Amino acid sequence: MKAVEITEGVYWVGAIDWNIRDYHGYTLPGTTYNAYLIVGDRIALIDSAYPGFDNQIIERVRSVVDPTKIDYLIANHVEKDHSGTLPALTNLLPGVPVYCTANGKQGLSKHYDTTNWNFTQVKSGDTLGLGKGKTLAFLEAPLLHWPDSMFTYLAEEEILFPNDAFGQHIACSQRFDDELGREESLKHAQKFFANLIIPLAPRVLKKLDEVGKLGIAIRMIAPSHGVIWRSYVGDVVNSYVNWSNGISKEKVTIVYDTMHSSTNAMANAIAEGIMEEEVEVKVYILKDGKADGTHRSNIVPDVLDSKAVVVGSPTLQNQMYPTVADFLCYLKGLEPGKLAQKKLGFAFGSHGGKGGTIKLIMADMKAAGIDVINEGFEVYYKPDDKELERCTEMGRDIARRVKSL
Ligand code: FEO
Repeated sequence: MKAVEITEGVYWVGAIDWNIRDYHGYTLPGTTYNAYLIVGDRIALIDSAYPGFDNQIIERVRSVVDPTKIDYLIANHVEKDHSGTLPALTNLLPGVPVYCTANGKQGLSKHYDTTNWNFTQVKSGDTLGLGKGKTLAFLEAPLLHWPDSMFTYLAEEEILFPNDAFGQHIACSQRFDDELGREESLKHAQKFFANLIIPLAPRVLKKLDEVGKLGIAIRMIAPSHGVIWRSYVGDVVNSYVNWSNGISKEKVTIVYDTMHSSTNAMANAIAEGIMEEEVEVKVYILKDGKADGTHRSNIVPDVLDSKAVVVGSPTLQNQMYPTVADFLCYLKGLEPGKLAQKKLGFAFGSHGGKGGTIKLIMADMKAAGIDVINEGFEVYYKPDDKELERCTEMGRDIARRVKSL
């Protein structure tokens, strides 16, 4: 196994997980757990990998230096996908200083037996000189992604190691954004942001402002997942600012499930109305969430990107369909409607009894921050032509409102 030199004396020594398809409720085409070796007069290893990937980290380090020569371990984040190799490394390197935040020490001690670990707690502004023109500076970044998170900055090389921030879940042989391609890199970064970062958006903006005020140059961003940003640093930073502000397109995303195709017919009629107004529409049927394009984590990037979200469900035992409940539960956690730019929406569906399910849907949409614009539309059993025309008109209406935002 080989390391990849990203600049003189700085190496990617991460692990590639080709097989992972689900990670805390997120579907993904594999991922990488990036770790970085910084070689000065002394040697530091930034981050590690999920438990079970010890070999990849240690062997990639060995392709550069004897792993027992590592002088410092830097733990930017406690979550197991970045700390899981620390037990093996601290066994290999007895007494090695483990640099992390105070919350990091607490979190690592809850995850592992750290009795014999030699912690060094750091806070924003602390530095660690490695010699040969390599100085690491630390910046606490609480809740990006967990309370313990911090960024590490390699000052002379102007490389930011922000752990999860700016990451992408993708397993590939490319290590850099320009090798994977701008569009593909940003697409995976957007999916990562939509599924993990939306609720943290105010903190992202605050941290970017803080970094801006420090006046430090950033030539590369080396996150803990996916490719390293070196050619499109400005693009991904600008995208993070836009996504964090909820900047979205004149676009409506319709998400629904169906039992006997009534809600399906309503969804199609709403989509027709939106298209008549020449507004982009994406239509997602949830089904079992397993088929491609039907899983909640593949839908939320379009929700992030849309000015309106329309949700439909048949009634099942006086409740919304379980797949719709799953989607809305996820949306309530992410709260995309609470980003600075608001999102409009309404609910629709069919029933075979007394109805009322759309009220449950609307309550969840409101909890996700979505501005529900009307009382929704629920039909008895199957929509007739008049009811389908009403659906189309509701589509036209939301499209017109989207254009006027
Ligand atoms: Fe990639 Fe918060 O862990």
